[in-house]
Amino acid sequence: MLRPHGQHPDPAPIAGLIGTSGAMLDVYATTRKVAASNASVLLLGETGTGKELVARAIHELSPRGTGPFVRVNCGALSESLLESELFGHVRGAFTGAVSNRAGRFEAAHTGTIFLDEINSTTPKLQVKLLRVLQEREFERVGDTETISVDTRVIAASNRDLLDEVAKETFREDLYYRLNVVPIVLPPLRSRRDDIPLLVGHFLAHYNLENDRGVATIHKDAAEAMVRYHWPGNVRELQNVVERCVVMAPGDELTADLLPPAVRGDRASVPLPGRGGDLDSLARDLVEQGMTTSGPDDDNLFDRIVSRVERELISQMLAACGGVQLKAAARLGINRNTLRKKLLEHGLEGGDDAA
Ligand SMILES: Nc1ncnc2c1ncn2[C@@H]1O[C@H](COP(=O)(O)OP(=O)(O)OP(=O)(O)O)[C@@H](O)[C@H]1O
Ligand SMILES: [Mg+2]
Repeated sequence: MLRPHGQHPDPAPIAGLIGTSGAMLDVYATTRKVAASNASVLLLGETGTGKELVARAIHELSPRGTGPFVRVNCGALSESLLESELFGHVRGAFTGAVSNRAGRFEAAHTGTIFLDEINSTTPKLQVKLLRVLQEREFERVGDTETISVDTRVIAASNRDLLDEVAKETFREDLYYRLNVVPIVLPPLRSRRDDIPLLVGHFLAHYNLENDRGVATIHKDAAEAMVRYHWPGNVRELQNVVERCVVMAPGDELTADLLPPAVRGDRASVPLPGRGGDLDSLARDLVEQGMTTSGPDDDNLFDRIVSRVERELISQMLAACGGVQLKAAARLGINRNTLRKKLLEHGLEGGDDAA
């Protein structure tokens, strides 16, 4: 049965994946469901949308989670190298094959193999992959002995594979074999309401990693980040936040720290409140109990700032085992200020004895 966004029986977040937008809740629900099975999964989405994170989550949440997780980047190797990497080879199979070598499918026995950039495989390899998917067996390069494996296959592509099928660069039969359960990772610009959460999350992460205390974000910076179209998706946002934390002279993430492209998008993205993407962000904030006086930009961006701060503080507190004194020190604020902010954000419960 199809349910509207947010009404999944199990919309619980998945470790490491940030986002509460409807599209991400769909991803979590499918990820959990498919993890329990042995079905092949095809992960589709632009670069930086989290395909590898989801592949690992499926493996870890599956009964195979204690087995190996083996990733192969099909785009990084030539046809012959990839063939021998995946299936192994015997001594003398080709120049340089000085000994027998097991391939990655064998290495992934009882676990999961993640075939990244599957669209880069050649027709010859696609035939061999089809057979593994159908029969779970193959031969090492140069060998006649058939090897059987118990390996779950997850594949990913940042190209539309149906386009590739239409162009006849990807076999249709393999496409349908892989596409038993497709999971489409949404581009970040189609879930702008998750941007403040991600910014807060990465701020906490890079503050800890670099021993910095960039504890606030200026409204202009928040506005620019929510408006920007993020062609590199979460990876790009993550890198931008890291750079800001490292470069910030003080304790505030200001707009001048952002790359020109991020700052410059102001005119190219529709303003909120009149049918732009930020409408959903505004609605989202209202649904979360934050009051609004209507489609007022200033108000909206104040709330975005507040949402970044809330996420930053809650992540920092969690990273400090709930010890307020530590979290305050990490954030470069005093404990009373932290207490006040916890109350403000409805984040009580970070109690401590220190
Ligand atoms: N929803 C998310 N929450 C937190 N971090 C995320 C999320 N999505 C992606 N990331 C982070 O963004 C970076 C890129 O993610 P990932 O490698 O999974 O992307 P990808 O879809 O495999 O990209 P590519 O097609 O370029 O390989 C990683 O550092 C990952 O941790
Ligand atoms: Mg990837």
